[in-house]
Amino acid sequence: MGALPRLLLFLLVQTAEGYSGDDGDTEDIVAVLRESVRLPLEVPADEELENIVWSSHVRLATMVPGKEGQPATIEVTNPRYKGRVSFPDPGYSLHISNLSWEDSGPYQAQVNLRTSQISIVQRYRLRVYRRLSEPRVTVNFEISQEDGCNISLTCSVEKAGLDMTYTWLSREDGVDTVHESSALSTSWRPGDNAPSYTCRASNPVSSITSRPIPAGSFCSDPGCPSEKSTHPCVLTKGLLLLALLVVLAAGLWLTGAPTRGRTPRKRKLERNRLRLKKKEKPHPSLA
Ligand SMILES: *[C@@H]1O[C@H](CO)[C@@H](O)[C@H](O)[C@H]1NC(C)=O
Ligand SMILES: *[C@@H]1O[C@H](CO)[C@@H](O)[C@H](O)[C@H]1NC(C)=O
Repeated sequence: MGALPRLLLFLLVQTAEGYSGDDGDTEDIVAVLRESVRLPLEVPADEELENIVWSSHVRLATMVPGKEGQPATIEVTNPRYKGRVSFPDPGYSLHISNLSWEDSGPYQAQVNLRTSQISIVQRYRLRVYRRLSEPRVTVNFEISQEDGCNISLTCSVEKAGLDMTYTWLSREDGVDTVHESSALSTSWRPGDNAPSYTCRASNPVSSITSRPIPAGSFCSDPGCPSEKSTHPCVLTKGLLLLALLVVLAAGLWLTGAPTRGRTPRKRKLERNRLRLKKKEKPHPSLA
């Protein structure tokens, strides 16, 4: 390959690389939604600086250092960043505040040096994440007399977003168990120790754990001794549940016709009933 084609190829590769940010010297930066981020930049101290051009997809801002102690002039060219970018002293790092999802992506700083007439390019890849809220846990359990109890736990976070990891942590007989998944299935038999389960949800900017879930409490009746013969206990539990359902149903039936919600038709019926009662009244006196 001659010198010219090689140069052309080099240029092509340079162009194709563009801002894709896949080359070695791209700095990965994570930041929190609505918070701020610093894209660090250092400039050789022995060089006189012409300017620094920041871009992300399109040109973002140009910074021209001030002469002899004068403050630098900053021109923000992308209106999306107006009022959100600054270059706090000392140094040349770019600060962006109040980050939004759209701020994710490739960034680059082109440092144009006056003395050596060369440009240094620093690339970044910014990813914006939400700070996570406390995970929500749902518990499904199945109880049977012979097999004890099967429990499935599911962990989720509202508006989770990308790059989430879920971990179930439990501690049994002094041994910690880690299970990397949002769902966990476990079984419990009468007489077993019942560990507590804690879900930890993480993304690159936050990690938050749920309250401990005492899985055994869903299967065992506190009034029951945890022994082999759960037969009566399971039965009691079933009966209790039934009783609870009956009470609930009765409650609903009693409060089902609130006085405020009466329809005219109902009122009419009631009046008719009153009339009937009045009509009935004379009977006993007649007899
Ligand atoms: C941050 O940006 C959002 C829109 O992305 C805006 O509604 C909000 O007012 C901004 N907050 C501050 C403190 O500038
Ligand atoms: C729990 O699951 C196992 C199989 O995984 C099954 O054999 C057993 O019957 C289940 N127990 C209950 C209470 O559903």
